[in-house]
Amino acid sequence: MEDAADVEAFYDQFEERLGLTGDYEHLEPVLPDVSGKRVLDAGCGLGAGSQYLADSGATVVGVDLSNEHVEAARAEYGADVEFHRMDLTEPLDHFDDGSFDLVVCALVLAHVEDWDQPFAEFARLLGGSGSVVVHVHHPFVDYLELESDSADNVLGEAAEYAAVEQFGRPWGPDGAIMPMYRRPLGEYLRPALDAGFVLAEFLEPGAGPHDTERYDPDRPPRHLLARFDRCE
Ligand SMILES: C[S@@+](CC[C@H](N)C(=O)[O-])C[C@H]1O[C@@H](n2cnc3c(N)ncnc32)[C@H](O)[C@@H]1O
Repeated sequence: MEDAADVEAFYDQFEERLGLTGDYEHLEPVLPDVSGKRVLDAGCGLGAGSQYLADSGATVVGVDLSNEHVEAARAEYGADVEFHRMDLTEPLDHFDDGSFDLVVCALVLAHVEDWDQPFAEFARLLGGSGSVVVHVHHPFVDYLELESDSADNVLGEAAEYAAVEQFGRPWGPDGAIMPMYRRPLGEYLRPALDAGFVLAEFLEPGAGPHDTERYDPDRPPRHLLARFDRCE
């Protein structure tokens, strides 16, 4: 689990849709009106969310690290959405400065160690205005799982709260290890603020779209939704 290649290999296994077919309805509380907007779905997976945005009136480009996912997305939603294989840890040179009005980045950044690179690119792609909508795992849940003896503590290691740490979470019928990073709350905000965004929305929904059954009301919510607005 060293780099994006491990994440790509993990997701390439799951061209058979492993429940990751959700649209982006759950993002509505932080999503601006997308009608007529140019939207980048950064880490689009199998493309259902991209199609949701297109159905809402946006012109959408979906990019993803997994070639298998990009091909599956193109096959199913290619009539309405343009899809490309791209790595958010690299410059997105394919796109010009200011070529988007909105970036949606849903359940992707947990796989990325350094968030400065993608947020700097998002700022460039948005130009002087626009927004980034982010859906991420809740930092406290990641921390508690690593600290606890629960089944989710796959590494059996204690977390160091202030650090950005790599860990693995079993996923799917074979318990394949999903490479992930956890980080302190401040590191959820700093890269976006450093890139020139302001925090416009910050919500902790009670349960996420992919794991409703696992929600435990006695523990912190599993997900965070945020919107960062560009201000120059
Ligand atoms: C859990 S899926 C989320 C898909 C979709 N956004 C959703 O919310 O349903 C995570 C996706 O992020 C992609 N991904 C992970 N790291 C990435 C990177 N460095 N660049 C681009 N995509 C990445 C994976 O290939 C996978 O398709």
